[in-house]
Amino acid sequence: MILAILIYTIPLSFCLTERSVRSSSTECSESFQNFNAEYADVRSSPSAVAAENVFFLHIPRTAGRTYYFCFLKMATPPSRRCEKSYDVLRLNTSIADCGLLGSHDDLSVMQYLPKDTAVVTQLRNPVDRILSAYEFVIEVASRQVLKLNPRKKPKRKLTSTKNVWPWSYLAPWMEADMTQRQAARSGAAGTAGAEGSVGTDPYDNGLFMPLRQFIEEPIVQDLLHNGAALQVLGATNYTHWKDGHGVRACSGSATLHEELQAAAIARLDTFAHVGIMEDLEGSILSLAASMGLKLGGPAWKAATDAFEEGEGGRVEQVKPDGSYRHPEPLGRAHEMCVARARKKAATRKAESMRALVLPDGSHVDFGKDTRAAIDPKLIQRIRELNAADEALWQHGKTLHAAALQRHKEDGTLAAVSAGWREIDAGMDPSASGSDRQQSDELRRKLQAPPKHSRRKHHRAKR
Ligand SMILES: *[C@@H]1O[C@H](CO)[C@@H](O)[C@H](O)[C@H]1NC(C)=O
Ligand SMILES: *[C@@H]1O[C@H](CO)[C@@H](O)[C@H](O)[C@H]1NC(C)=O
Repeated sequence: MILAILIYTIPLSFCLTERSVRSSSTECSESFQNFNAEYADVRSSPSAVAAENVFFLHIPRTAGRTYYFCFLKMATPPSRRCEKSYDVLRLNTSIADCGLLGSHDDLSVMQYLPKDTAVVTQLRNPVDRILSAYEFVIEVASRQVLKLNPRKKPKRKLTSTKNVWPWSYLAPWMEADMTQRQAARSGAAGTAGAEGSVGTDPYDNGLFMPLRQFIEEPIVQDLLHNGAALQVLGATNYTHWKDGHGVRACSGSATLHEELQAAAIARLDTFAHVGIMEDLEGSILSLAASMGLKLGGPAWKAATDAFEEGEGGRVEQVKPDGSYRHPEPLGRAHEMCVARARKKAATRKAESMRALVLPDGSHVDFGKDTRAAIDPKLIQRIRELNAADEALWQHGKTLHAAALQRHKEDGTLAAVSAGWREIDAGMDPSASGSDRQQSDELRRKLQAPPKHSRRKHHRAKR
């Protein structure tokens, strides 16, 4: 397959159609049916093993890092990876033979991909996804507004969050709001005795936009609510299909809602693999089984210096894949990557949140406990606003359980773990409790009885 013949790069600012005025249900229903009919033949290859190309449809805040960077990418030699496309789709500069693309693009990106492309994705409980998005936007905005820990100049070109949809819109918006609140507070503090009204609720205080306001904002409606269903359909704010915008504008219409829900579910059924963030390790095993990958098989490193810009801006590989062989097998390389990524994210989050000090002197610290204490009415409201995503997620759970069962029965799950030396004391010492737990989980899920401890060396290692 040759992705590179598909000459296209789409800058973020592409296609700024006006958001349609919400039309009547009938009109919405009609335009939706047309949309569905028009793109009915856009299909994922049903089998990821047989397909030469894989597109990871990365729904934001669904542990895509664990899935994509720490697994799919590591399982794919550099020569088969398409260029980084989280900020801009770079198929026209990718190397000709690439077959793995991961991005926040929605299904509409399929029009630029070869017919034989398998779509894989990962779903999450929509309430958690929205809460996570809220917390993440606050984190990114506070970093900017409070001018915190300016990053050391990176050695290699990193993709900045502020260029990645949907954060490209949400982060500056939240920054502006935070700055305004900050100014208002210092203004109020200046007037004798007055203090800015700051509570101690992490989701409702004077430091930044309260959660209850956030979820009702039009921009959040446009970019986050029912975002998984819209992404699976190809109708996000980031779509390459112009008529996707009309469909999205209608997504509040009650009639359409059910149609949209049903269509998204039907689309999901065609995907080669669907994972569930609530069972991340099980999902990764299932993904490996659907792709014929083995945890004891080879892994490859990031390989940022493997390529150079060649003729016409297209990248060319200058160092062979073999130079990037990971010393550890895929299963271990994956776990090391996850532990490192989690630690880094936690440090970064802690640094960013440090400056958000509540009146009682404590810091804003989002976590399981703070989420559990949110007013149930507010949670219910988020669920209502994400009804299509709720249905999609429920369906995804069913698909995941069925796939896992199938992989167990046909032996593919056992093949995933064959030849993989179990990790015993080998976990990264920096790994947190939850990483260890996950590693145990992974072990438990593996069908094959543990191989005894003699370490197998990889013949192919070079
Ligand atoms: C890739 O596409 C973009 C926009 O479509 C264009 O500006 C750029 O020159 C293209 N690059 C190559 C190498 O063709
Ligand atoms: C996407 O959403 C942002 C924020 O709501 C908006 O500014 C932008 O115009 C939208 N783009 C399209 C193509 O609708």
